[in-house]
Amino acid sequence: LREHEEFTKVKNIATIELGRYEIETWYFSPFPPEYNDCSKLFFCEFCLNFMKRKEQLQRHMRKCDLKHPPGDEIYRSGTLSMFEVDGKKNKVYGQNLCYLAKLFLDHKTLYYDVDLFLFYVLCECDDRGCHMVGYFSKEKHSEESYNLACILTLPPYQRKGYGKFLIAFSYELSKKEGKVGTPERPLSDLGMLSYRGYWTRVLLDILKKHKGNISIKELSDMTAIKAEDILSTLQGLELIQYRKGQHVICADPKVLDRLLKAAGRGGLDVDVSKLIWTPYK
Ligand code: ACO
Ligand code: ZN
Repeated sequence: LREHEEFTKVKNIATIELGRYEIETWYFSPFPPEYNDCSKLFFCEFCLNFMKRKEQLQRHMRKCDLKHPPGDEIYRSGTLSMFEVDGKKNKVYGQNLCYLAKLFLDHKTLYYDVDLFLFYVLCECDDRGCHMVGYFSKEKHSEESYNLACILTLPPYQRKGYGKFLIAFSYELSKKEGKVGTPERPLSDLGMLSYRGYWTRVLLDILKKHKGNISIKELSDMTAIKAEDILSTLQGLELIQYRKGQHVICADPKVLDRLLKAAGRGGLDVDVSKLIWTPYK
């Protein structure tokens, strides 16, 4: 399948239907060869099985009994829920999710080894069920301290703060693990913008509270953000000086206020008291 992807990197599927949305795709995704002749695919929004024709989907919806992603609901706050799906226990769902996600992710290689990943699927819930908004994947064991492999907000839900919510969630999991984390590289442009935005807001809030008297190590311990990411963010904000061979945070209150104003809204917050989760073993 990887070879197939290498040799035919032309966009195949132009649109998908998913729940109540018709969505235009962005990139190539290596669906199995029998789908090569389709320009539109119809997804079941719950089990993510995909079909060539609307009638097939309608027939499927009459017998599909899922109303939310498979796996455990580990977070619920208002109408927002997060489900944890183990790629080993729900292989087909994991693969379907990867096919779907690749339509919006450019430079990420698809993982067919979904066994090694957990998928955190964010949903908006109503009386018809839990509708997927976006997700991130996470390796069960990462040697490089990655706490997130791929992140996606489905296009109809973008720019509403869900991306930052997913990023914040990934760091809350890292805090529960007692580890620092960082997203897998490379980041897309939109991924970089979202991470920079998240890191900037989180770090500026703490610097303001501590009046700048805090080290990068302490910031990292408090936020689970990797020290390198903290340093590059603060350097980008011109809050770092290099003195006697050491990086020192220089945070004048007036400068912090100006930067905080420019940093914009914080997005949707994760209410940690509503997260019920223990690290994967
Ligand atoms: N134009 C300019 N800035 C943007 C845009 C855009 N289209 N989209 C997001 N941003 C920036 C903004 O700074 C925004 O904050 P603001 O709205 O307060 O200004 C910030 O990113 C985050 O916005 P959110 O609404 O929280 O994020 P969203 O739900 O749109 O999701 C995401 C961001 C996941 C990156 C989404 O754009 C997406 O799914 N893109 C396609 C897939 C992708 O590129 N994923 C990242 C790959 S890298 C990796 O997976 C490790
Ligand atoms: Zn289904």
